[in-house]
Amino acid sequence: MKNATTDTLLVHAGRSPRDNHGIVNPPVYHCSTVLFPTLDALEASDRNQLEGVHYGRMGTPTSFAFEESVAALEGGWRAVHTASGLAAIATALSAFTKAGDHVLVSDSVYGPTRRFARETLIPYGVEVEFFDPCIGAGIAALLRPNTSVVFLESPGSLTFEIQDVPAIAEAAKSVGATVLLDNTWATPLFFRPFDHGVDVSIHAATKYMVGHADAMLGVITCRDEELWTPVKKAATRFGTCAGPDDLFLGMRGLRTLSVRMRQHQESALILADWLASRPEVTRVLHPARPDFPGHALWKRDFTGSSGLFSIVINPVPRAALAAMVDDLELFGMGYSWGGFESLLLPTRPAAIRTATRWTDPGQVLRLHAGLEHPDDLIRDLDNAFRRLNAAL
Ligand SMILES: Cc1ncc(COP(=O)(O)O)c(C=O)c1O
Repeated sequence: MKNATTDTLLVHAGRSPRDNHGIVNPPVYHCSTVLFPTLDALEASDRNQLEGVHYGRMGTPTSFAFEESVAALEGGWRAVHTASGLAAIATALSAFTKAGDHVLVSDSVYGPTRRFARETLIPYGVEVEFFDPCIGAGIAALLRPNTSVVFLESPGSLTFEIQDVPAIAEAAKSVGATVLLDNTWATPLFFRPFDHGVDVSIHAATKYMVGHADAMLGVITCRDEELWTPVKKAATRFGTCAGPDDLFLGMRGLRTLSVRMRQHQESALILADWLASRPEVTRVLHPARPDFPGHALWKRDFTGSSGLFSIVINPVPRAALAAMVDDLELFGMGYSWGGFESLLLPTRPAAIRTATRWTDPGQVLRLHAGLEHPDDLIRDLDNAFRRLNAAL
């Protein structure tokens, strides 16, 4: 399948019916103990625990199938799965840092990524510096001989800044830093990390890959073997393996990722256009809109957009915000995205940033366009604005 397109890879990667009684999907192995028939076999497995089936936590044919699928989609060498997206981030950061290192982290990363850097890496002797996500090649001024990792997330969480990944990656190479990227928003369909200089691509598979809001899963794909080995070792040390049924759900989600993403993309753009016309909305933060500051970079590097974006509305009292969001019919309020259902979440980026300032006075609302019909979603939002205005 070397020349297969992404749509075809999504359908065929990681499964081999011929090796499995003709059954279309790979088997789901529930496993802790693995038995070895001889002392020779036991010792051979001990000598190379990174490969093959050794013990349930270190991988099974079910996890290998998921990892093989994602690595093929991302165009990387190999992948390592984890129990959640955050476990993937923590594992990858740990794999490439040690006491005395300097690590650069984008100021717009997912909150718990920032927390892991501050509350785990710093106490372990790593110097963590947050940087303006729009810094581009200017990152050269922050790089030091001991900078071991540059951590990117593009677009950024909540506010969607697009990073100049190739420029940052090129600068990072000059000091030998490893470039990690949280690629969850774009999925492997809309951003090809290894074509843009990234070394290690991370996904909260919990989001679009699983796609149905019913499992936690993470995955780390590495550009080459030299990068994969420390990641696999770190994952083994942490012991954050996923359960077999969640891996199965991840693989099942991949089969329909392309058709779902097309719909998420289309609906989000329809909602974003409608929201941009509303008097209550001061800004729409959606990278695929020409009025978004990072739009040119998005257009250069991405091949599509997903269902997640934000809006800024005029400053309103808390009671009016509550009137707006409490009685939503279709949009749910909750801390995830990437499932089939629409979500809306009030957020406060100003309270999180440290390297940059979020000065917009209005309330930021993050929306996830699910797979409902956009007309119905617009009606739900229209009613929400009606309640907001009545409460002012
Ligand atoms: C951008 C991003 N990365 C990582 C994660 C963490 O994923 P998980 O919830 O699977 O740990 C999230 C979760 O919301 C996220 O939004």
